[in-house]
Amino acid sequence: MSQATQIEQRTTEIISSPEAHTAPPALEVSGISKSFTHRRRETNVLNNVSLKVEQQEFVSIVGPSGCGKSTLFHMIGGLVKPDAGTIRMNGKIVTGQRGEISYMPQQPALFPWRTIEDNVLLAGEIKGALQDGAREEARQWLAKVGLNGFEQAYPHMLSGGMQQRAAFLRALLAPQELMLLDEPFSALDALTRSEMQRWLLELWEENRRSVLFITHNIEEALLLSNRIYVFSGRPGSILHTVDVPFPRPRRDEITDSPEFLKLKRQLSQWMREEQAKSEK
Ligand SMILES: Nc1ncnc2c1ncn2[C@@H]1O[C@H](COP(=O)(O)OP(=O)(O)O)[C@@H](O)[C@H]1O
Ligand SMILES: [Mg+2]
Repeated sequence: MSQATQIEQRTTEIISSPEAHTAPPALEVSGISKSFTHRRRETNVLNNVSLKVEQQEFVSIVGPSGCGKSTLFHMIGGLVKPDAGTIRMNGKIVTGQRGEISYMPQQPALFPWRTIEDNVLLAGEIKGALQDGAREEARQWLAKVGLNGFEQAYPHMLSGGMQQRAAFLRALLAPQELMLLDEPFSALDALTRSEMQRWLLELWEENRRSVLFITHNIEEALLLSNRIYVFSGRPGSILHTVDVPFPRPRRDEITDSPEFLKLKRQLSQWMREEQAKSEK
């Protein structure tokens, strides 16, 4: 065999081997534990949590309140240091580093002195000069989520749900590839919430980002996710991992299918059991 043929054969092997194609996960959390000490009392909040979000995957976390979900997000965002464990993004260790993610906190946290439009544009500004057309794009998005006419308003002039939509857009238009969404729809009424779910589903299917999503709403998690991690009560640990089998694009009709209802029942039961334990 000539050297050229050998090289060619080796190249083909490398290209066709599965490892060569698999990019590292967008996010990989390994063995994270965390305790807080408050007035000399130590609370163990998270215990040995490992999870991942593959490139362009939509992954949800459900679990009782107080089990450390928001704390986990703070650690992924580099705001809080874990006691143990590592966080990797695209294969690189980023434990304790900030600026790697686009984040929508549980409280909308808009800046009161900036208009809605300027709040939405904030992440792009922090990363550097605003791209041409960024302002126009922001206005189009504001209209899509029903905030047209409020571009120049200040946050205190908006209802809680409207502030949440603006905060959501700010995360969406941020340049980072990984989005962390902490109960983004919790302040919305049921009707707006289901509209926003449908909107997010379509948007994500068109323009896939890697997303880690916290929600209390099981139906929402099943409709949107590739995978769901079910957390135990405090200290939070992963009790169950559910791969959601429905093909994409997903439509609302799947929520009536027997398979959907079966998964919904199973997840609801796990959640009830955890809630009951934490109330004891
Ligand atoms: N900075 C902190 N100092 C002390 N305790 C904290 C801090 N942040 C969170 N906690 C505690 O950690 C626990 C988990 O909180 P959190 O992560 O907000 O839960 P979840 O988002 O699952 O409802 C709560 O008991 C909360 O009081
Ligand atoms: Mg929370």
